[in-house]
Amino acid sequence: MKDLIVYYSLEGNTEYVADKIRGETGADVLKLVPKKAYHDKGFAKFFWGGKSAVMAEKPALEEYKVELDEYERIIFGFPVWASNFTPPLRTFITENAAKLKGKRFAAYACQSGAGAEKAFEKLAKCLGINGFEQTAVFIDPKARASEDKDAQIAAFAISLKK
Ligand SMILES: Cc1cc2nc3c(=O)[nH]c(=O)nc-3n(C[C@H](O)[C@H](O)[C@H](O)COP(=O)(O)O)c2cc1C
Repeated sequence: MKDLIVYYSLEGNTEYVADKIRGETGADVLKLVPKKAYHDKGFAKFFWGGKSAVMAEKPALEEYKVELDEYERIIFGFPVWASNFTPPLRTFITENAAKLKGKRFAAYACQSGAGAEKAFEKLAKCLGINGFEQTAVFIDPKARASEDKDAQIAAFAISLKK
């Protein structure tokens, strides 16, 4: 049975990691796209995105097709917003709650500074689980790319194959 990476990315960092994990593991990928795009510049980006995360919003998503029965493990990827996971994941989990039951879960977060551990806790709670099999945190892996960060992503991807 295959793995599915389910991610949201506003500025490309989380997507960058998803692409690398897919390259290493052959996992399938589902990118979540909110119907109403979040602001991606200046004050509005932090204000509206932060508010949406703090309010635990569930933004409507563009239509997606996925057969969750085909996957044994889901790997969630998200940017940390206000020490929380990003709202499009909340929508996805709510829409697929029944089919997610009994799956194995891993998760990774992209952030600039801090908050990922709290975000993992909140994501686990949203999924109704105690924790993840594996987690990884990457500091702006695309915007501030380096060989070390690429190696860290590769190590996480390899750990997912075990
Ligand atoms: C609304 C908003 C809130 C954020 N809150 C945090 C935070 O609490 N902690 C942190 O370290 N980074 C925070 N960031 C930075 C992003 O998590 C970080 O730049 C991440 O790599 C972006 O991933 P993406 O390119 O996939 O969107 C925030 C960014 C935005 C837009």
